[in-house]
Amino acid sequence: MKDIHRTQGTLTSFHLEDFFDRYEHEEGLINLASSDALPWNGATLRAAGVELPDICTLGFGYPDVKDKLLPLLATFCNLPSGFGLLPTSGAAEAIALVMQHGAVTQSKESIWGLPTPSYGAFAGLARAHGLPVKTYAYQPNSGWKPDLNQIFDLSKECSVLVVVNPHNPTGHTIDDRSMRELASNMHFRGSLLVVDEVFRERGETSSAVGLGENVIVLGSLSKTYGLPGLRLGWIAAQEKRLSGLRTVQQY
Ligand SMILES: Cc1ncc(COP(=O)(O)O)c(C=O)c1O
Repeated sequence: MKDIHRTQGTLTSFHLEDFFDRYEHEEGLINLASSDALPWNGATLRAAGVELPDICTLGFGYPDVKDKLLPLLATFCNLPSGFGLLPTSGAAEAIALVMQHGAVTQSKESIWGLPTPSYGAFAGLARAHGLPVKTYAYQPNSGWKPDLNQIFDLSKECSVLVVVNPHNPTGHTIDDRSMRELASNMHFRGSLLVVDEVFRERGETSSAVGLGENVIVLGSLSKTYGLPGLRLGWIAAQEKRLSGLRTVQQY
């Protein structure tokens, strides 16, 4: 895996975590690199006299993301071939990774286009990382609708454009045709389209997953599915885009 560079610093590959990603759940191996005691599971705890509800069948080790979670999520997200998923701790971590990765890889002058009003993590993390931001507005005097012309104009200026679709807090959506056009215009210019779909209801609005190799989709089970405590989110993107994000996550 390549190290991630920016003039102000370098995020080198986290070789130990790469090793764990590859071997941690492989059967029959004794993990000499492990730094913890063998994880507990429900059966051992019950045998030790701990009362647990029947529902508690999960273990307490690291989850087997590669072989168990990823195939299920890929089906759930209808992932096209060539695209992959990076599970995250809610969409909040997905946003943090995308912005931190951008802060390390993009030039200092790269503009981020963000919606306003919006979920505060985008603007807050952009501020924290010193990323230059321009905003497009959901307008109160037009029933809080987005101005598509403004979005398209801004997309010509920015290196990364964030779209929250459906949008929080207005609930407005951007139609499929505009999303496709936005993705392809931005691809042509070599810029990224980040689409936060945490409020997407399957069957109601289409997903931007697979719209282009420059499209990064963020999702989670927190909002539409009412499962915020699971802290299960993801980033769906072309495989080659995920590797840098994975390195940031390993730190
Ligand atoms: C637009 C948007 N994206 C992401 C998140 C974070 O969601 P999660 O609970 O999955 O971390 C929120 C939470 O309110 C949100 O409104």
